[in-house]
Amino acid sequence: MTAPLQGIKVIDWTQVQSGPSCTQMLAWFGADVIKIERVGVGDPTRTELLDYPDLDSLYFCQLNCNKRSIELDVKTPEGKAILTKMLQTADVFIENLHPGAVAKLGFSWEELQKINPRLIYGTIKGFNDDSQFANVKAFEPVAQCAGGAAATTGWWDGEYNVPTQSAAALGDSNTGMHLCIGILAALMQREKTGVGSYVYQSMQDAVLNLCRIKLRDQLILEHTGVLAHLPQYPNGKFGNTVPRAGNVEGGQVLGWCYKCKGWETDPNAYCYIVLQNEAKEFAVAAEALGYPEWVNDPKYNTPAARNLIKEEIYKAIEAYTITRDKMDLVQELGAKGVPCGPVLSMLDITKDESLRKTGTIVEVDQPKRGKFLTIGCPPKISTFAPVVTAAPLLGANTDEILKEFGYSADEIADFRSKHIVCK
Ligand SMILES: CC(C)(COP(=O)(O)OP(=O)(O)OC[C@H]1O[C@@H](n2cnc3c(N)ncnc32)[C@H](O)[C@@H]1OP(=O)(O)O)[C@@H](O)C(=O)NCCC(=O)NCCS
Repeated sequence: MTAPLQGIKVIDWTQVQSGPSCTQMLAWFGADVIKIERVGVGDPTRTELLDYPDLDSLYFCQLNCNKRSIELDVKTPEGKAILTKMLQTADVFIENLHPGAVAKLGFSWEELQKINPRLIYGTIKGFNDDSQFANVKAFEPVAQCAGGAAATTGWWDGEYNVPTQSAAALGDSNTGMHLCIGILAALMQREKTGVGSYVYQSMQDAVLNLCRIKLRDQLILEHTGVLAHLPQYPNGKFGNTVPRAGNVEGGQVLGWCYKCKGWETDPNAYCYIVLQNEAKEFAVAAEALGYPEWVNDPKYNTPAARNLIKEEIYKAIEAYTITRDKMDLVQELGAKGVPCGPVLSMLDITKDESLRKTGTIVEVDQPKRGKFLTIGCPPKISTFAPVVTAAPLLGANTDEILKEFGYSADEIADFRSKHIVCK
């Protein structure tokens, strides 16, 4: 099977999560990804959240599979010359250093076009170039807050009515995936034009792109003064902006997260069930949940009527779900055509055989560490199946990479003696 990006060389000057998630995906698609790391230090995540004191962290290993690593001091004249040489024949250059850092070292988009007009330059920053926050450094929560996610996530009343982060890396890995889309589009475009392009992905934009339905809600609120699909309707008050919506479904259907058997001791014994609006689908769900009488009762049998008594309906459904194991319940309701899903804990996910069968959860043999679990390549392509391989040890491929770019053994020894590459 020919890998989709076979023959594409990526110079990967990324770190932490956003950039590495993008370049890992490119590596899974078959690109040769060369990760540039600070001499003796490497990607900061190598030493973050260590579970073994002397090993690269799981954080690092899970984001840098299938790459090669070179330690290179890009601040020295020789280091800059080496990077320049690599860029002359590379297809893609990606970095996510702080705003201005790479341009300051002579690798701005303008300079790169002179080095290699076919090169595609991908960058991640917290904010767009012309934003008032363009120079602000950004991590995950910064993006979730500035991208509209935190304001609309969480509980809408009580002590915990505060802007809330999602556990999903909307700011980091999501931005990496957005950049990856941009890079793939730029590669396709280069096929036609022969020239590279500059792909700038802000973390704020990547989060906002996933909050499209919240902007929709803002416009509805401005037109009508209410958001009938949110928990606040019909009894609560609406202000001038979209409030936090708890576990409500994003469209105009009743969806909620219900307790299941064992909830008293298991914080994830829950199941999400969607009551579809169409009469036929509603009847199936009502029957399956033990309330066949709802079908002919005008208090329940239209979406508008149900919307007025959301709380009552949630309680009635939970009286059923609380007696059932979440996995059995999903099998049972799912078989009848009711949209639903179990709340899977991370423990559940590590044990889920079906996720392993599909290559979604994979075991990787990591040098020094041994086997560890990670999340494999999400898109499943009929003509190509990536094999997830280990993340590189710091500088593991330094010599081989320098040789590939034409440096002799003596030159490499000289770089080493000057600490331009690893010891
Ligand atoms: C993540 C972030 C906040 C970290 O900022 P930081 O602590 O200043 O760290 P950076 O790695 O960006 O820069 C540190 C320095 O290391 C230098 N450096 C990095 N790799 C190097 C190398 N191989 N050789 C020499 N110097 C190197 C940089 O040039 C920079 O030097 P400077 O401060 O003199 O300009 C910042 O990089 C950022 O905002 N990135 C864009 C958004 C993003 O992707 N965030 C991460 C989400 S996971």
